[in-house]
Amino acid sequence: MTDARKDWWRSATIYQVYIRSFADGNGDGEGDITGLRGKLPYLRDLGIDAIWINPWYPSPLNDGGYDVADYRDIDPRFGDLTQATQLISEAHDLGLKVILDIVPNHSSWDHEWFKAALESAPGSPERARYIFRDGAGPNGDQPPNNWRSVFGGPAWERVTEPDGSPGQWYFHIFDVSQPDLDWNNPEVREEFLGVLRFWFDLGVDGFRIDVAHGMVKDMTKPDLPYDESGLLNSPSIADHPFFDRDGVHDIYRGWREIANAYDPPRLFVAEAWVEPPERLARYVRDDELHSAFNFDYLKSAWNADALRQTIEQSMEVLHAVGAPATWVLENHDVERVVTRYGREVTAAPRGHNRLVLGESDRALGRRRARAAALLMLTLPGGAYIYQGQELGLPEVLDLPEDALQDPVWERSGRTERGRDGCRVPLPWTTSGPSAGFGDNGSWLPQPAGWEELSVEAQQGDPESVLELYRSALRIRREEPAFESEALTWNQDIGADVLAFEREPGFMCVVNIGSESVKLPVHTEILLASSPLSEDGLLPADTAVWLRP
Ligand code: GLC
Repeated sequence: MTDARKDWWRSATIYQVYIRSFADGNGDGEGDITGLRGKLPYLRDLGIDAIWINPWYPSPLNDGGYDVADYRDIDPRFGDLTQATQLISEAHDLGLKVILDIVPNHSSWDHEWFKAALESAPGSPERARYIFRDGAGPNGDQPPNNWRSVFGGPAWERVTEPDGSPGQWYFHIFDVSQPDLDWNNPEVREEFLGVLRFWFDLGVDGFRIDVAHGMVKDMTKPDLPYDESGLLNSPSIADHPFFDRDGVHDIYRGWREIANAYDPPRLFVAEAWVEPPERLARYVRDDELHSAFNFDYLKSAWNADALRQTIEQSMEVLHAVGAPATWVLENHDVERVVTRYGREVTAAPRGHNRLVLGESDRALGRRRARAAALLMLTLPGGAYIYQGQELGLPEVLDLPEDALQDPVWERSGRTERGRDGCRVPLPWTTSGPSAGFGDNGSWLPQPAGWEELSVEAQQGDPESVLELYRSALRIRREEPAFESEALTWNQDIGADVLAFEREPGFMCVVNIGSESVKLPVHTEILLASSPLSEDGLLPADTAVWLRP
């Protein structure tokens, strides 16, 4: 095996499949493995290297599958293990790698372990796999401390003991249906090593690790000064009791040994909402995880200084530990970029209440999102595309309240609508039920006009977002400049312009300001996110790829 193949992940484009909303093969209104298998040729033609599939394990889906009831099986809504194995081999035949999502911080309350814990006495080995504590106050009827769940409300829930008496409390960083596992317990550690091997043996190429900065806790810490509870916020205090504790790194060193024992070695991507970037770099030291989502980049405003600073800083701290940078604008937890970039404030909001953010100008957002795609896809390192991003889908802000499924909605006392607006099933065709998503509706309603954004509507149209992505990904695969991990800034074009070269012979210029600018000397325009002006100027919110 050549080194290039071993290190495929350093510059890979990884496409995120939110399976429940991707393609419905059996007409039950939810996406599934059959639907995904049917779309593999589409993904190959798009020009990506790998797919990352959101959790597909048996689950009550209280948190979209991030509440896993069995880590070694497939939810019947999505298919079965035979279909999963077929999917993996079909993807491999098309040259696509397959990355799964592992959720080690917590299980579902439907997991056998948690059911056994509820049926067992305080202090039993069954309870010791989770974090059970006696309550505070004379009758133990107060939570053990004031820590809060990131979905709102207390991070503790009281149980009824098997004899019917009011009992202990268990800890859950997320929904009440997602009890946290106790990673001090060797049995928990051993179990997850087995889960990794199970899927690696089936041919899976790697894992995205959910809440990779969770897992290790110091439950002896005192009450927290609030507000710490917004979803996906980085912890704002050092030595946080349950986020980004040094002990997680021991776990990952063990996981890396397992991944390295496979041929080809398997890969890990960290989902870790930590600050500053130096903290993130600790997760990708060379005996730990391979890469990590760059959420500083995802959160950045559409602003030249902010983006340049994030790009420089990310590359510096990640390269210092030998890891590649990565670039991401969307996922299943955050607002679609077309909508965010169409707002007056373009930095990603903390928390989830997307409705309070004000108006979004769809045309402006789309124009910026197109330019942002060319920027992201030419930065050195790996890139992530969330399903539908390549279609320029907007956030669906007006889902009816009775359709909302994100636990955030109820746990916030129906004040925050949560993340369903970026999870609406994909439009594939210009007609037919659910715009080609499936034969029988879609679990979240699609908005009017969704079919106009479908794959069928866009393919072959040179002005479509889809064709822009296809062209960009083709160039990204073919250009030798994309093999290096360096860039050289050209600061001469204007303060609101990001311009840089990659060797050999490739230049990217992005005008983030409001005035048109002159392009640097070039011999060829390879791709532009929007047309240049007649006199060859680069208009506002436009990116070009040039041959110097
Ligand atoms: C991660 C997932 C998110 C989920 C949470 C709890 O942040 O991306 O969707 O709700 O973990 O598992």
